[in-house]
Amino acid sequence: MLFQPFPIRSMLLPNRLVLPAMVTRLSGEDGVVNADIKTRYARFAKGEVGLIVVEAMAVHTAKSGPLLRIGSDEFVPGLTELARLCHDAGPSKVVPQIIHFLKISRSGWRQTVDMLSHQEIDDIVEAYGTAAVRARRCGFDGVELHMAHAYTLSSFLSRVNPRKDEYGGTLENRLRLPVRVLERVRSLVGNDFPVGVRFLGEECIRNGYTVLDAGPIAVRLAGAGADYLSLSAGGKFEDARPIPGEPLYPYTGYSGDRCMPGNQYPDGANLYIAEAVRAAVHAAGLTTPVVAVGKIPTRELAERVVAHEKGDLVGMARALLADPDLPRKWREGREETVVRCVYGNVCKALDENFRKVTCTLWPKALGRAPESHDVIAPVWPQTGPELRAECKDGRVLLRWKSASDNEAIYGYQVMRAEGDGLLLHHASVRGSSTRYEDARVLGGQVYRYAIRPYDLAGNHGPMSPTVRATLS
Ligand SMILES: Cc1cc2nc3c(=O)[nH]c(=O)nc-3n(C[C@H](O)[C@H](O)[C@H](O)COP(=O)(O)O)c2cc1C
Ligand code: SF4
Repeated sequence: MLFQPFPIRSMLLPNRLVLPAMVTRLSGEDGVVNADIKTRYARFAKGEVGLIVVEAMAVHTAKSGPLLRIGSDEFVPGLTELARLCHDAGPSKVVPQIIHFLKISRSGWRQTVDMLSHQEIDDIVEAYGTAAVRARRCGFDGVELHMAHAYTLSSFLSRVNPRKDEYGGTLENRLRLPVRVLERVRSLVGNDFPVGVRFLGEECIRNGYTVLDAGPIAVRLAGAGADYLSLSAGGKFEDARPIPGEPLYPYTGYSGDRCMPGNQYPDGANLYIAEAVRAAVHAAGLTTPVVAVGKIPTRELAERVVAHEKGDLVGMARALLADPDLPRKWREGREETVVRCVYGNVCKALDENFRKVTCTLWPKALGRAPESHDVIAPVWPQTGPELRAECKDGRVLLRWKSASDNEAIYGYQVMRAEGDGLLLHHASVRGSSTRYEDARVLGGQVYRYAIRPYDLAGNHGPMSPTVRATLS
């Protein structure tokens, strides 16, 4: 089912896999598309993901560090080239995510929605409208309106929106600006241009809204003409950790953890949100597709999302950053060669520090995901991997010998089983390391471990013999 084409208004996705927007910090302060941006996105297209949502780009003129922009015609040539390169590189459809955000300063001050005049609100509506028309002119296949996280439209939707007029208070009032924006965009881009919306299924802050509000929000946005609903969670200023002299970054608190769930969260951590919203949309007699997102690392889970109606489309941000070729490898039945994201959130930390977003698994000198057509798998030394397990300070410490490869060792997969159970992927370790500490262990429980090396093409070498460990 994942690889059946999926229609969204005039756009036919080649499959149900979506790259949700992910800021790369590759552009300069000028917000113009550059060579690094083109390489990054063309690579995703080459990997055959169904829909590429290009990172958030500003519809207005405010500067905000290295972030793409679409707020005036000067950005059209670069964006046009970006859309064309992606279309040339692979079958993916491509839409930009367009965003408006409020002012923020290093002093800790930030503009909030109650400070906006009616004229400024009208200007936001127009800025979205003209940016969406620009997206169409640039040759994108549609446009996605950013109504999630800490940004303007999400702050209007928020349950803690402090406005006292017709834009705050009741759900109907909080929806007023997002719906105005959507209707204005639709009126300007026409009926044949797909317009998606990304919004929060749960704010994950104190007094914030939950799926109880997200259902009606989804129904209203779908009724107002949204062609797909991409669900996110958290990412708010309200619980962000202030750092003196630095602008507040909305992903440093609990809501930030919920937005990009790290390895302390279970796989599919936010799927209940998409499932509840999808159910609300269907209960209202609508069929607007829902994009489920949040730590979906495996094909098995992605298939389950669709089969069990938790979402119509499967969003995978970090998993695709770690391995942009994942969709093609899945389609070819080569799941084994996928380089799996370890959800340690190094990419998130780079974004937070306005540094170029890369994946910690990529070879450092390369600065991008490696491309290799090599078919020769790594091998262990003649003496074998000599995998050893030692129990120490409530952890299991694994050490092994380096494998070798005709190109390069990219990493090692750590496999773990409880007792005599099935060995499952537990973690991945960079190729430069030959040790791993497992701190998620219970005393008295028998664990079995094995290691598999993989190379730049994702070819896996033989599994090491298993070792057993039990903490006393
Ligand atoms: C480095 C980074 C940048 C992100 N930038 C955006 C963004 O521009 N717009 C957005 O809606 N979400 C953004 N996100 C959130 C992702 O789209 C996605 O919702 C989140 O990472 C959870 O999905 P995943 O578990 O598949 O990574 C970003 C995430 C990361 C890690
Ligand atoms: S840096 Fe870590 S969390 Fe981010 S994509 Fe790479 S492995 Fe995944």
